[in-house]
Amino acid sequence: MITLALSKGRIFEETLPLLQAAGITVLENPEKSRKLILATNSPEVQVVLVRASDVPTYVQYGGADLGVAGRDVLIEHNHALGGNAAGMYQPLDLNIARCRMSVAVRDDFDYARAVKQGSRIRVATKYTEIARQHFADKGVHVDLIKLYGSMELAPLTGLADAIVDLVSTGNTLKANRLVEVEQIMDISSRLVVNQAALKLKREPLRRMIDAFASAIPK
Ligand code: ATP
Ligand code: PRP
Repeated sequence: MITLALSKGRIFEETLPLLQAAGITVLENPEKSRKLILATNSPEVQVVLVRASDVPTYVQYGGADLGVAGRDVLIEHNHALGGNAAGMYQPLDLNIARCRMSVAVRDDFDYARAVKQGSRIRVATKYTEIARQHFADKGVHVDLIKLYGSMELAPLTGLADAIVDLVSTGNTLKANRLVEVEQIMDISSRLVVNQAALKLKREPLRRMIDAFASAIPK
């Protein structure tokens, strides 16, 4: 049996065409079913549904043979383990769930001036490692405030001066009167594979990885 870890929503939806290329169809709709293990048309392949940020953990410790996770999630996961995310390969950038990691502030906050003056900036984010590294590289002093969601609210309520969050269309920022002032990195999702599984189930996993590779969107 091959177990693939996916998160509900955009990663699940955008992985379906890649599975299709491997001849795999998921037999249940995660938006309708409460099941966490989904069967496929192949008796040897099942999909497990986990939180986006739990995908690397499942793959690293062998709870799943492979999975799909955002670059953001992989960087934060790697750091949480002290840079020791051993036991996992990242053979493919799947070029799905594309967005960017950015710094945003209220439209009336002069970010460039705060940076120039060397002020301490309060930054709210779920992505503390990416934020810490970014501001350290720029030599900007920041107080990081860890949040688990709705980052956009932080500058509006006075909790923080800035946020580090994912941006795609920019609609969420606009709806909350925030402006993007810096782009930190491009984000897309990668295939992650458990190293031991790749040895033990070499042939079927190779076939799946090759099929995914052939179907990566441009
Ligand atoms: P968790 O449930 O673990 O808190 P999450 O809510 O961030 O995670 P999703 O919103 O499904 O999970 O996002 C999954 C991945 O998709 C993210 O890790 C990121 O790489 C990417 N992503 C997030 N937001 C967008 C977006 N607006 N457009 C495109 N890709 C996105
Ligand atoms: C993500 C991200 C931003 C939004 C950006 O949230 O956290 O809030 O997308 O996309 P946009 O620039 O196209 O508006 P998402 O929609 O995934 O909500 P969630 O993280 O709360 O699930």
